[in-house]
Amino acid sequence: MEGSLGAYFGNIHTVPFENTLLTPDSRYLVHRSINGGICANLNYCTHGGYPLASEAGLLIKNGKPVKSLVCDMHHWVFAPDGKNLASLNCHSGHCKDLQRVSVAEWNGLFLGFNPNDLSKSSLCEFASSFNIDYQTFDLTNYLHIHTLPDDEVKYPLILFLINFRDLLHVGVIHPKTFAEVADCSKPEWEISDPNKEIAHCIQLVRRKNNLKPLNQCDENKHGWLSLLHFLDENLPADFEYPIDKDIFALWADVCGVNGLMLEIYCGGLFQVISHVYNKDPLNKLTGNANQVEFFIHKSIPDSMRERLSYLLQTAYWQSANEDSGFCERFYENHTRFSGQSIDKKFASTTHETGEEPYHNWVRKFMRRV
Ligand code: FES
Ligand SMILES: [Fe+2]
Repeated sequence: MEGSLGAYFGNIHTVPFENTLLTPDSRYLVHRSINGGICANLNYCTHGGYPLASEAGLLIKNGKPVKSLVCDMHHWVFAPDGKNLASLNCHSGHCKDLQRVSVAEWNGLFLGFNPNDLSKSSLCEFASSFNIDYQTFDLTNYLHIHTLPDDEVKYPLILFLINFRDLLHVGVIHPKTFAEVADCSKPEWEISDPNKEIAHCIQLVRRKNNLKPLNQCDENKHGWLSLLHFLDENLPADFEYPIDKDIFALWADVCGVNGLMLEIYCGGLFQVISHVYNKDPLNKLTGNANQVEFFIHKSIPDSMRERLSYLLQTAYWQSANEDSGFCERFYENHTRFSGQSIDKKFASTTHETGEEPYHNWVRKFMRRV
């Protein structure tokens, strides 16, 4: 079995019981058994290395989860959990099962770690410095709204990470979105021990004290400001937020899981899982995509869910598009005028905000990207 790959394989909502999922990068087959046991295998036939499944997402045939995977090349057959069922041309006696990779569940997410490593990792203390129990964010407490599998990322992955890991950008790049609702002047940090194999970092921003009124002519009328006003005006007076209502966002970066960001918004009412991966193996630099999954807390009254789901996604894409636009412009001009490539050295010198421990933390993990 491969050790901790640090991949993100999906979650309890996107991989139902008795189903098999091919990850968006087409590298892993993730299978969940009837009793919820999870396993992951490489999506390559153990005969000649040919890919077994080709369409990312749940593997469904005739409306039902597939019961076996047949290799197109010489028809070896595998069970969804990777067991070799039939090897027609196997004369060597080495008819191997698919190659297993480590997987462990954390808060409803399936992560490519050895379960023992995970149980000793900082993720068991996730958000504790903010006096938050991380299990508040367990995905069993949320409903899955929508997944966009492949939002295009036309710039190097490392630039995506720089942008998202550096709080400098929040007020500067998002003057009409985040900066209208969040107090960007006082970010709070949780930075776990970078010497651990699995570590995390959280940036927390709080809501502004007084939200400006919503102007219906404002271009931001479907943005974060609108979402917060809707919550304030429509949630019952005795409604209890999962965490402090005053917390606008927690942006968490789980290192060892390349390109995975957990985004928790509006006092824990919403979660967004953003996972950037390389979609085109022939274009490792800019052939990337972002899988974005949206979740809404179960405690939100039924009557408000549809409207809030809409507002969350429109608000999210307003700010996400600002990020993409910034990264694309930055990449294009940086490359054109400086003649330098965007590499790890660049990444580790670009951070300007945060504290010294945060800088060191980022530098250490940039080496893994
Ligand atoms: S490569 Fe799959 S059966 Fe030969
Ligand atoms: Fe951003």
